Amino acid sequence: MPIDENSDRAGDDTLALYVHWPFCLSRCPYCDFNAHVRETIDQTRWRDALLAELSYWANQTSGRTLTSIFFGGGTPSLMDPTTTGAVIDSAAKHWSFANDIEITLEANPTSIEAAKFTDLKAAGVNRVSIGVQALDNDSLKFLGRGHDRDQALAALKLAEQTFPRFSFDLIYARPGQTRSSWTNELKEALSLAGDHLSLYQLTIEKGTPFFADERAGAFVLPEENNAAELFDVTQKICDQHGMPAYEISNHARPGSECRHNITYWEGGDYVGAGPGAHGRLTINNAVHATEQIPGPENWLEEVEASGHATRNRTAIDADGRVEEIFMMGLRLTNGLSRDVFWARTGMELEDALEPRRLRPLLTANYLILDSAGLRTTSEGRLRLNAILAALLT
Ligand SMILES: C[S@@+](CC[C@H](N)C(=O)[O-])C[C@H]1O[C@@H](n2cnc3c(N)ncnc32)[C@H](O)[C@@H]1O
Ligand code: SF4
Repeated sequence: MPIDENSDRAGDDTLALYVHWPFCLSRCPYCDFNAHVRETIDQTRWRDALLAELSYWANQTSGRTLTSIFFGGGTPSLMDPTTTGAVIDSAAKHWSFANDIEITLEANPTSIEAAKFTDLKAAGVNRVSIGVQALDNDSLKFLGRGHDRDQALAALKLAEQTFPRFSFDLIYARPGQTRSSWTNELKEALSLAGDHLSLYQLTIEKGTPFFADERAGAFVLPEENNAAELFDVTQKICDQHGMPAYEISNHARPGSECRHNITYWEGGDYVGAGPGAHGRLTINNAVHATEQIPGPENWLEEVEASGHATRNRTAIDADGRVEEIFMMGLRLTNGLSRDVFWARTGMELEDALEPRRLRPLLTANYLILDSAGLRTTSEGRLRLNAILAALLT
């Protein structure tokens, strides 16, 4: 549907910006992100195209304040730091920056990428999220990673010395992983951590080499009960080390949560630029879901021809909006606050929840509804998808 491209948003004027860099040095066998391997990348063409999309979105969101920028991938640490810097400088021209703007870049820990940290900092990046994934060489080999343990440790050290904030990712519930081996790995990870850690259970995604490998019996994942036990151990150890989960897979020292991701989970507005990037924009009081063309070359050609490569742009109806706010908000440990729910939907929580669906979930101690809002219990968090299905469908 047509949108008034010059309108400002009433109310909350904050905005986040996601920039997708779709290239990697190689493909990891578990990954189904929009990531591609290319022999050469024309950084100038890519920079100009990203700047064009920024300008396109800025025209529709003028006057807003940017609270975060997130360079995700793919592997954005493969961007030339001058490209990263050009995107940040252009964002600063288009929007006001919040005083404490968070500018995160996802980095892989190979030495080539770590060598760029100083230039990335000079370009304006103030937080990196490093894809460590595992702390032993056998697991890194199994995961098809291009780095080893020593490179990961060196990259973490350099990140700590270079940036005010850093985080890293680990993938657990890997084949053969026991409670005791994961406990040791996690404790070592916590000793290396800054203020934030992302801990993902290995998921086998359709269409990836791991999907075929698992079917062929090349490896066996921990059974559901063992995976739940590993999740449980994770929560306990991270709590003991002052890094509680603030979201299913994300842990932080209180106050150091990733602001960009909080915007997603609290249903805030964000611009998505780059191949396959998604956005949520409130324009003329309607929330629009946007999606860019995913294929890198198709995206580039379309931006060069039209100034942007939007594939879909849809106004979300009231029911759809309520549903997505529940789905995102219940991922957070603190859940969905009454204020956030009101700000996003104009409704009280009780008016959006069917008592016949809600009551059994409260009785089973999977959900809590109180003066703060709606949240899962630790039991509920283990079965969030089932709870959302019971609550919403
Ligand atoms: C966009 S990806 C990675 C960014 C960066 N290229 C890297 O590999 O470090 C973000 C994170 O998702 C996690 N991830 C990706 N696929 C996964 C899967 N199938 N199961 C669990 N975690 C996964 C990894 O921890 C990864 O670091
Ligand atoms: S996990 Fe990271 S490096 Fe590996 S293919 Fe996915 S995006 Fe690329």
